[in-house]
This record gives sequence, C-alpha cells and structure tokens, in this order.
Amino acid sequence: MRGYFGRKTAFVAALLATTSMAMAEDVEVLHWWTSGGEAAALNVLKQDLAAKGIGWVDMPVAGGGGEAAMTTLRARVTAGDAPTAVQMLGFDIQDWAEQGKLANLDAVATEEGWDKVVPAALQAFSKYDGHWVSAPVNVHSTNWVWANKSILDGLGIAQPTTWEEFVAAMQKVKDSGKTALAHGGQPWQDATMFDGVVLSVGGVEFYKKAFVDLDPAALGSDQMVEVFNRMATLRSFADDNFSGRDWNLASAMVINNEAAFQIMGDWAKGEFLKAGKVPGKDFLCFRVPGTQGDVSFNSDQFAMFAQTDPAAQAAQAEMARAIMAPSFQSAFNVVKGSVPARTDVPNDAFDDCGKQGMKELADASANGTLVGSIAHGHANKAAVKNAIYDVVTANFNGETDAKTAVANLVSAVEAAK
Ligand code: GAL
Repeated sequence: MRGYFGRKTAFVAALLATTSMAMAEDVEVLHWWTSGGEAAALNVLKQDLAAKGIGWVDMPVAGGGGEAAMTTLRARVTAGDAPTAVQMLGFDIQDWAEQGKLANLDAVATEEGWDKVVPAALQAFSKYDGHWVSAPVNVHSTNWVWANKSILDGLGIAQPTTWEEFVAAMQKVKDSGKTALAHGGQPWQDATMFDGVVLSVGGVEFYKKAFVDLDPAALGSDQMVEVFNRMATLRSFADDNFSGRDWNLASAMVINNEAAFQIMGDWAKGEFLKAGKVPGKDFLCFRVPGTQGDVSFNSDQFAMFAQTDPAAQAAQAEMARAIMAPSFQSAFNVVKGSVPARTDVPNDAFDDCGKQGMKELADASANGTLVGSIAHGHANKAAVKNAIYDVVTANFNGETDAKTAVANLVSAVEAAK
C-alpha cells in the first residue's frame, strides 16, 4: 500500500511541477482600479502573483463603478479576444456566465473549500448553475460617510447619527464658507449616494421591495418622493464645480481640508490611507446617518474567461487560488478599504474602520439587513441599474422635481426589467 501511495505522491508531484511550468503563463487582467488607493491595492495582488510566477498584463480602463470597463470587455469578447481575468460585479458575472463565456473554477474551489468560507450573499454571484465562475476578492459597502475630523472639531460638530443631524451639520459647514459635501457628478456616484439615501428613508424592507423586487407601488410611493427630496438636499450642499468630478478628487477635497463630508463606498478609505491619514485622528468613517445596522454591499470578483490553452487555464486557477488565500485577503483589503470575502480572516491587521466594516457585515448578514448595492450592480441586472442611473442623475442635475423623478423611475424600471 505504502509503495502505491509513494508512487502516487511522486506522480502528483511531477504533475504539479508540470502545472507550475504552465503557471508561468501570463494573465491579462481587465480592471478599473486606477486611483491612488486602488492602484496600491492592485499592487498587492500583482506582487502576490509575481511571487508565484504568474506574469501580469495590465488592462486598466478608468472609470469608477466599471461602466467603461464593461464596455471595453464587450468589445473584446465580440472580437473573440477576451482577457483572461476580469474585475466584475454582481449581476454582470451572472450575465456572462449565462452566455457561457466563463471558465469553471470548481476544481480549485473544491480543493480550497470555498463553499464553507465564502458568505452566501457572495456565492449567489460567484456561482452560476451551481458552479464557481469567479473568485471574490473583497466586500465593499456603499452606505458610508467619510468626514474631515479637524473641520468638524473646529466647528464643534459631533458625528451625526440621524438624517436631521446630518443636514444640520452640513448647514453649519456651508455657513462657515467651506464645502459641506464633496461630490463628483457622475451617474454612478449619484447612484452610490442614492443607495444610502434609500436606506435612510425606508430601511431594508423598503429598499428590497423597491429595488430588488421592483414593486411598482414601492417605486412610486411617497417614501420615494422623500428619497428624491433628500437627494436634492444633498445637492444643495455640494460645491458649484461638482459636475463630472472623479470620486477620488472628491475624496481629496475631504483629505485636503476643503470639504467636510463625502458619501462614498469604502474604497474612499484607500485614498485617505494612501495620503497617510489615520482613521479616528484625521478622518471619521460612519454609516449614512439613519442607516446604522444596514449594509448595502458590492463585491469585486475576478471572473475568468474560458480558455482552451491548458497553460492559460492553469494560470487562471492559480490566480483564483491566490486571491482566495486568507493571508492575501487580509493584506489586500487592508489597503483597498474593503473587508475580506471570506468569513475566517482575522481582523487584527485592519484599522478601526475596517474592523467596524467586518463586524457590521457579519451582523447585517445574520440579521437580514444586508442588501446588494443598486449603484454597483448587486441589486439588479445592468439594464435596470442603468435605467435607475438615468432617473437619479437627471433629477440630481435639476432636470426633474421629486414627483416627476418618481414617475420616471416607475416607468423606466418597468421598461428595463
Ligand atoms: C466600484 C468597485 C470598487 C471601487 C469603485 C470605484 O464599483 O467595486 O472596488 O473601485 O468602483 O472605482
């Protein structure tokens, strides 16, 4: 028996050696991580893969939220030239899997026991028809506020806990001559604020009814009018030059003492850290007032496009394995501002905002207050998401009043679903 296993072990070792030669293959990675904080996090991944002998061909497509990257991806796939690995969100993963374009990662997932450690809310996107098609690298959430501590201290503003306190705080900042709300007027950024505002008005029940079930009554409700009223309130606290500004430049306004608050996903923390800022000392992180306990999440995943070349397949499997390693999940997410995509990663290396994010994610998941981000493709397929973007942005830019926006929302969602 021993001899048999001995031979078998030798055979497996030889096989692994062959595989690791195949692993020298490059991966071409399409992504939209081009800001300072994002690039720093991406470097953690590049270096990790380099140490494993996997080469990296970079294919960055700038644009938060990934819309431009997804347009490039469609063009590449249509031309029969899909990249090996693609940063992807939520329903987009399911969409490409349904089209039969993604590689099956079951072998590595089984070997590494992903089923046991990846939260169910993520598996819903990482698996298609029971098979693993992508490797989740993080969990972000969108209902966060990032605040400049010295501006708040200087004006005697305490961390707001209700929507009314938040509005009063922004008014105080505005009266002082500083910008209250740093914002970039791009549809995905307007929609990112919208995630938190919807939760602040009606909690997860309303959020789910309107934006997951797409119930016309909830979409057309008085509560939705209040959502758009709150969006208009936020608009009144942004500076005059908000239009078209990139999200990281809005973060920089808070970092550089020009603005007090930014409502943005926790990738913003990556910018603060990159600038050497310390949570609790230089900046504060807290949930959009009125949404404490609720978490609207988005998870960046790397979907692998099906390849026929065994060397390319081996590189994909190694990349997926590397992404899911607990030590990598810690090192990467500490820099990115997100939290690990597995439940068994210790929180020791994380700062206070990260520790809070990890705890709140686990609690929300246990309490049923975890919802997929509307803005980042975790509530609906792209057609519905884009229909919502159009209505939210037109309203935010003053083209419609709240009542008209609600009527438009009902008809746009109906047409897109
Ligand atoms: C999100 C993505 C984040 C962050 C952000 C801004 O869609 O999930 O990782 O990069 O866009 O670019």
